[in-house]
Amino acid sequence: MIEVPTALGIPTLRTTLEPSPADPARGLVDRFGRRATDLRISLTDKCNLRCTYCMPAGGMDWLPKQDLLTTAEIRHLVRVGVDQLGVRELRLTGGEPLIRADLEEIVAGVREDHPDLPVSITTNAIGLARRAAGLKQAGLTRLNVSLDTLDPQTFRMLARRDRLADVLEGVEAAVDAGLTPVKLNAVLMRGVNDHEAPELLAWALERGLSLRFIEQMPLDADHGWTREGMITAQEIRDRLSTRFDLSPHPADRDGAPAELWDVRPLGAAEGTAEDNAEGTPGGTDAAPTDDVLGTVGIIASVTEPFCGDCKRTRITAEGEVRSCLFSHEEFSLRDLLREPLKNGESAQDRDTAIADRWLAAMWIKPAAHGMDHVGLDSADFVQPERSMSAIGG
Ligand code: GTP
Ligand code: 5AD
Ligand code: SF4
Repeated sequence: MIEVPTALGIPTLRTTLEPSPADPARGLVDRFGRRATDLRISLTDKCNLRCTYCMPAGGMDWLPKQDLLTTAEIRHLVRVGVDQLGVRELRLTGGEPLIRADLEEIVAGVREDHPDLPVSITTNAIGLARRAAGLKQAGLTRLNVSLDTLDPQTFRMLARRDRLADVLEGVEAAVDAGLTPVKLNAVLMRGVNDHEAPELLAWALERGLSLRFIEQMPLDADHGWTREGMITAQEIRDRLSTRFDLSPHPADRDGAPAELWDVRPLGAAEGTAEDNAEGTPGGTDAAPTDDVLGTVGIIASVTEPFCGDCKRTRITAEGEVRSCLFSHEEFSLRDLLREPLKNGESAQDRDTAIADRWLAAMWIKPAAHGMDHVGLDSADFVQPERSMSAIGG
């Protein structure tokens, strides 16, 4: 892997040369030496919830069906990504991916093409109870579920729909189907659900679920985000520390958005590294010396950004490449998929053209989103036109 020098999560410019031709060993590199191996494809911009940090109450103008990538087009793009551009994992997102009736078909198709590719979804879990087993059978590896509260009233206020019971059923079904590890994403909103942080964590730990708290990002369609309004990573740690001891988790983060913390009951002494080694199956002593309850993740996109290690490339539901959640530029791969072959052009030539456009889009990936320590007063930050539901998390 290319080593990326970072300062405050911001990488240093390596070169201004043009991108090289597609080569899976070199992959989707950018000017800062980052290499995108994690592909996220949005399957739809629609969602059946209206979370206040994402969607307006009245929904949005949905894309017409003919604009969405088809199952075959999605498989095609994943093939180009994996075979020519070094993609190593796939996340299917939305909007809400379960809205697509052909989700199982998409998963099965990708699985047929790439037997070893990790394929996951990010979902709100509504309707998952009925589909979890089928998705597992189709070849889905695991999933992430958005769960911000365990209180039905709060859920109704936050998601503007009365569907908490469906979500909880969906989570249970995912575990039963073996779509593990099931990761939970929680966005805390001041005065709405922020007091619930310790309770959410206790609930997740009891069930062996991997909970991550996400700082709210300015990606809401209503443009209502404020720096003062958001709950920071430090506040999240402070709230959790009223009930748990947190200490940095030793494993390498490897470009993941979440920083992991080991969680112990309040007042428990932290085990030493040697103690922990002895407690592992490969250790010298079978008896664990530690009372760690599990881990919690904190995704501090705003206050502790991780752009310097970013390995994500995104394709929207209508087939536009976005190099970053906060990009202002998009490049259509769908146009290249749908345009008839020109005289003398082979299908292979067309795939090369798709790979070249994808590379060009990633080459100009911004160093960072610019909304971190300098705050939104900085001229660096302009909220993208698309909201989270129209990009894909
Ligand atoms: P880990 O690898 O364990 O962290 O999990 P994951 O890859 O399943 O995390 P996931 O992609 O679900 O990220 C969780 C949340 O982090 C998303 O829902 C977003 O809110 C946020 N997030 C994900 N990717 C990015 C990113 O590239 N930039 C920023 N700023 N936030 C991101
Ligand atoms: N800030 C942070 N996270 C968000 N998500 C949606 N909108 C935002 C936002 N503005 C999260 C959801 C979901 C995932 C797709 O992204 O909670 O889990
Ligand atoms: Fe990657 Fe952009 Fe997210 Fe930073 S803001 S981590 S560069 S997608």
